[in-house]
Amino acid sequence: MIEGEDVPAGSLPLAARSPGKCIVFGEHAVVHGGPELVVAIDLYVQVGARAAPRPSLNGSTQSAEENPYFQEGLHRLWGTRPPIALTVTSRVPRSAGLGSSAAFCSAIAALLGSATGGLSRAHLAERAFEVERGAQGVGSPGDTSATVAGGYVALNAGAGASLWSVSDGERTWAVRRVSDPGWLWVVAYSGIPRNTAETVRTVSRRLSEPDGPGLLERFRTVALAGIEAIGEERREEVGRLLTENQRLLREVGVSHPRLEALLEAAAPASFGGKLTGAGAGGSIVVLPHPGREVEAVRRIARAGGVPFVVRVARLGAGLVPPATAGAVSGRSLPGDDPDDRAVR
Ligand code: PMV
Repeated sequence: MIEGEDVPAGSLPLAARSPGKCIVFGEHAVVHGGPELVVAIDLYVQVGARAAPRPSLNGSTQSAEENPYFQEGLHRLWGTRPPIALTVTSRVPRSAGLGSSAAFCSAIAALLGSATGGLSRAHLAERAFEVERGAQGVGSPGDTSATVAGGYVALNAGAGASLWSVSDGERTWAVRRVSDPGWLWVVAYSGIPRNTAETVRTVSRRLSEPDGPGLLERFRTVALAGIEAIGEERREEVGRLLTENQRLLREVGVSHPRLEALLEAAAPASFGGKLTGAGAGGSIVVLPHPGREVEAVRRIARAGGVPFVVRVARLGAGLVPPATAGAVSGRSLPGDDPDDRAVR
């Protein structure tokens, strides 16, 4: 069964919004077929599209030409149709491992899919991945599946309802629903940008060494146990497994002293934590003790991170009413809680 509504046919101008994401368990290993748990978070990217004399991104033709995701989206999903102008507002920090590119790709795929006749949610997941993968050259459909599905999703694991399968031609990832335990998470950006493709290649090289299969097996064990523990709402066990997952990420060379410092700062107020996303910079995620979220935030901020308390975004990418002038200039977006979205 596919949760959430399909994206209906529409005509320009259109607007779409997508949540960001946080990888709870299994990044990197998922690229090699391992299990992963990803959650859509309530930091959103909103994209407006309208007909225009030439392609532009936030008013700039050059930005449109230089943005690989926009270019990839046009190339794969728009073809030779008349030019469009995109306007983006985002609360997801860029190059931070919190899903700004996946959210952008999912929103673009929803917009262009709607303007070309509408599409099912499973196709939206496929197309968003196609655009992200085309622009990045490497990676799994974990991020785009979470931003399209909303809520918690597991790749290559879990016993929940099957959402869809996504393939890159060589490998196929099965995506399933994981039930939401209703927890708050704290994510925090280290301020150190990183390049996902580069870190994916670094880890791939590490995993091709003689002890690679053993390492991959350890990633698998931790992620499977983590997915089970989330299903059983066992916070302490999830915290322990987050920290265990972090040990493995350190071992394959994608941690960073700043990430370690932020994790250490948050430790007294949390059950455990890890880097989230590609690593080598980017962000951390910690599972705070209930009622001590603000303490975790204060501790992380004192250590120099940029923390956010995040809730789960229940709904994935979809159409919203076209942006008002206020939304374009960065003021509050129409219908601040997209779970109450009027138009999809
Ligand atoms: O850097 P991010 O947040 O896009 O996360 C990448 C996650 C990886 O597992 C490293 C790659 C992927 O595409 O799954």
